[in-house]
Amino acid sequence: MLRLGVNIDHVATVRNARGSPWPDPLRAALLAEEAGADGITAHLREDRRHISDDDIARLAEALRVPLNFEMAATAEMQAIALRHRPHAVCIVPEKREERTTEGGLDIVADESRLADFIAPLREAGSRVSLFIGHDPRQIDAAARIGAAVVELHTGSYCDLDTEGRHAARDAELAGLADGARLAASLGLEVHAGHGLTFDTVGPIAAIPELAELNIGHFLISESIFTGLGPAIREMRRCMELARRGTGS
Ligand code: PXP
Repeated sequence: MLRLGVNIDHVATVRNARGSPWPDPLRAALLAEEAGADGITAHLREDRRHISDDDIARLAEALRVPLNFEMAATAEMQAIALRHRPHAVCIVPEKREERTTEGGLDIVADESRLADFIAPLREAGSRVSLFIGHDPRQIDAAARIGAAVVELHTGSYCDLDTEGRHAARDAELAGLADGARLAASLGLEVHAGHGLTFDTVGPIAAIPELAELNIGHFLISESIFTGLGPAIREMRRCMELARRGTGS
């Protein structure tokens, strides 16, 4: 089964645009649970531009489905993760000037520091996931340092599809499929996410080694028009059709 993790960061983006208490990301998370989300993902950025510390505390307290806590590899974030002990911690690279998480982690360049960084999180019982591109050197390094999961970055694949660059998109898809196969062969659980839409999710969901997709911005955007529950249910339908080999 392919799980769907719903990322609720951009509910907080809208809330923070007005400094009001609404829309409340926790309410969105509970609605997503009801609509069949298998997990909730939230990224506490260092600049707190969307999700807040209080959101994480409330999510950790109230959710019935697993919380996937996305964070940069900093001491501050590690302390917060150790306080809440979420089901999963997904380590992402973070640059203040970026609009969103633009690339994957460079584990190879930072291997011993990342190995030390994730050890206490593992000991606290969180499944550690590393957000990376499909470069085999990064996948090998993730396995070496003891991550449980790699999440493969689908952002380039989605951008190439939007730009109509189909040959490059197909090459990127092949790289993601090869990466997923390699990661699974090394005993890693394989997730994917970033930029996925109803149009792009099918070929990704069809990669058999994938266990989970994390999808946020498009679902929250779509919920303006259809509501969050219908958007999530339609995404699940696209995923399931692709898994059954009938396209999305
Ligand atoms: N996975 C990771 C690791 C991410 O950083 C993000 C974006 O926060 C997502 C998935 C979801 O991406 P999107 O919001 O584009 O669906």
